[in-house]
Amino acid sequence: MAHQLVIVLDFGGQYNQLIARRVRECGVYCEVRSYKTPIEEIRAMHPIGIIFTGGPNSVYDEKSPHIGKEIFDLGIPILGICYGAQLMAYTLGGTVSPCETSEYGKTETHYNTSSVIFGGIHLPETAISWMSHTDYVSKLPEGFVNSAHTADCPNAAFEDPARKLYAVQFHPEVNHTFAGLGMIDSFVKNVCGGIGDWTMAGYAKTAIESIREKVGDGKVLLALSGGVDSSVAAALLAKAVGSQLTCIFVDHGFMRKNEGDEVEAAFKDSGMQFVRVNAKEQFMARMRGVSDPETKRKIIGEEFIRVFEQEAKKLGKVDFLVQGTIYPDVIESGVGDAAVIKSHHNVGGLPDHVDFKEIIEPLRMLFKDEVRKLGTELGLSPVLVWRQPFPGPGLAIRIIGDITDDKLEILQDADFIFREEIAKAGLDRDINQYFAVLTNMRSVGVMGDSRTYDYTVALRAVTTSDFMTADFAQIPYDVLAVAASRIVNEVRNVNRIVYDVTTKPPATIEWE
Ligand code: XMP
Repeated sequence: MAHQLVIVLDFGGQYNQLIARRVRECGVYCEVRSYKTPIEEIRAMHPIGIIFTGGPNSVYDEKSPHIGKEIFDLGIPILGICYGAQLMAYTLGGTVSPCETSEYGKTETHYNTSSVIFGGIHLPETAISWMSHTDYVSKLPEGFVNSAHTADCPNAAFEDPARKLYAVQFHPEVNHTFAGLGMIDSFVKNVCGGIGDWTMAGYAKTAIESIREKVGDGKVLLALSGGVDSSVAAALLAKAVGSQLTCIFVDHGFMRKNEGDEVEAAFKDSGMQFVRVNAKEQFMARMRGVSDPETKRKIIGEEFIRVFEQEAKKLGKVDFLVQGTIYPDVIESGVGDAAVIKSHHNVGGLPDHVDFKEIIEPLRMLFKDEVRKLGTELGLSPVLVWRQPFPGPGLAIRIIGDITDDKLEILQDADFIFREEIAKAGLDRDINQYFAVLTNMRSVGVMGDSRTYDYTVALRAVTTSDFMTADFAQIPYDVLAVAASRIVNEVRNVNRIVYDVTTKPPATIEWE
């Protein structure tokens, strides 16, 4: 089924993906494309609307990204955001000037609520918007009228309704902008004519049909990690091709408490072939005495591929290999020049020696929140759908220093209690990631009347939208107190709990 499309033209803004997610939240399908996309290509995609993102540049910088005037003649509605607003004004003959007072953060904004994007969305005439700019539009192009202002920015929004061109200096996609989602909804529905034909039920149906058509009676292989993406991909493939699918779940032994069994239970009755490889001994043998974080990661990555390949070979030739790639990976690929902070191992990475014809990436166009919705739609267990991110190397990189069976058990128990208390406090969907770390440090304590010399467990919990930056979660003290007291009482060899209060950067989310 073809659905309506909005294109987000990316001018290098940090919120490009967020804009696309917001448009999809409004029920309209959206893709992010580079601002360099040729105009013929844009026209051929038949978008109902285009959104220009923000960007770090000034329109007057020689190297700043520009766009030809012709895009404004396509008759397709355009919304410019931040740099995108300035670029629209500049390209159409307006003037952009440096701000006398730059605006950053929450800013009181006065709206003209008779504008089609600000009306009918319960937006008061004065409300907070999120600003981040050092240039502003000082003179509007011909045909445009002002539709919002702040104390320091006379043209916080402007529009030419006859040509369906709209521009906002602030960021409606950011939660801090009051009614920001409503503004985007007004643009895609009331200006572009979006009908809201993008739903996960519709997506599941279409994806299942196209997978069936592609696979025919072929054999399909999937590496299941138990993470959200590979689990949802497995559920989708199982619905589409059932017994033609084999999922290989390599349990390296560094999963959280009970997790391996939970994954197995979720897929046992799905009609697919489910192979669980209990490879803990094999992994442990290679990890003995290893304490360097990067070496741990490399060993687990290599060993994982080896075990997976051994199992896959038993199946003979497979026709298709499934990958759980999701849309942010697609958008970000090609950027590739960021410094390597940690060598991420993603279970489901492409093995070299498995003989297959083609790759299927059924989640390639979905954002994470959509993947979860799809999982729910497919009836996948909430334990898997709402699973927090978990690193491929698992608890091996949450035990600082060398790994032993004992340490693994201590960490699994402590982590289980922490997770249980977070869930009991109803915080599990607000905190994006939370876990325990077994530090390699012992300290003196007292239990009964005796001296103890035991491990320190660190608790880590963060809130983040993209995992690139993160804040430590402000967990209420009473929740921390209960978790700490339970861990020292119920888990042997732990006598001290600390809470990690660093942000990322400068720390990372994981400790190794
Ligand atoms: P850091 O520690 O780099 O983590 O701030 C950012 C996010 O990535 C997860 N992480 C991994 N995910 N394979 C993964 O699939 C890995 O090797 C890996 N290492 C870290 C981490 O849990 C956090 O969500």
